[in-house]
Amino acid sequence: MLQVTDLTKTFHAAHGTVTAVDGVSFKVGKGQFASIIGKSGSGKSTLLALLGALDKPSSGSIEVAGNNVAKMRDHALIKYRGQQIGFVFQNYNLVPNLTALENVMLPLEFAGKPNKYRKERAEHLLHQVGLDGDKQTRKPARLSGGEQQRVAIARALANKPSLILADEPTGNLDEQTGQMIFDLLHSLAKSEETTIIAVTHDLSIAGKTDETFKLQDGKLIKQ
Ligand SMILES: Nc1ncnc2c1ncn2[C@@H]1O[C@H](COP(=O)(O)OP(=O)(O)O)[C@@H](O)[C@H]1O
Ligand SMILES: [Mg+2]
Repeated sequence: MLQVTDLTKTFHAAHGTVTAVDGVSFKVGKGQFASIIGKSGSGKSTLLALLGALDKPSSGSIEVAGNNVAKMRDHALIKYRGQQIGFVFQNYNLVPNLTALENVMLPLEFAGKPNKYRKERAEHLLHQVGLDGDKQTRKPARLSGGEQQRVAIARALANKPSLILADEPTGNLDEQTGQMIFDLLHSLAKSEETTIIAVTHDLSIAGKTDETFKLQDGKLIKQ
């Protein structure tokens, strides 16, 4: 499903050159849940940004569902990000003045789905992540951190992406809630047949994913 080959990203800053991602190659299959661990500054966020086409690699290739992301032009990249990738962030990044349901409906609206489908799909996904009843019509500020992250996960799944990228998704949650979010991601990878890659600091959580990769100074070491 995802195949990364010799991926490198170099930044040229005032103080010199930094190779944030250094010749990384790996493969993750469909429906697999992989974690990436590594110290701060080891290149985790840069790697996720490349996979999500938020940034362009200096060299190497990224193949997602048969498409070479590194070679796509801007127009194709916008489509790829919107339809093939779901993002989950540490700070949830929900739209504060929209309800949980409306937040999940938003990417469906961008994808041009009809109103009735949007509502049904969003209700179904929120139910899948364990949010029912009036919680679906609450705004983010009236939900707990764990619940907000569940909404963000439902939103990431909205357009049935091939790949979900999660950067420290449990970084703002207590240990027990974080564990529940990882268990949820794990079961969704299987039920939605989506590949999930999550960056985490938490080794106990990382140990429970299908595969664990470690980044060290931009280089990948399979655990
Ligand atoms: N836009 C940028 N410009 C220059 N250097 C960067 C940029 N983004 C990241 N870096 C550098 O690349 C390295 C990896 O950063 P990052 O991917 O954010 O690590 P992590 O997410 O593992 O903490 C660090 O040395 C960081 O300072
Ligand atoms: Mg980071």
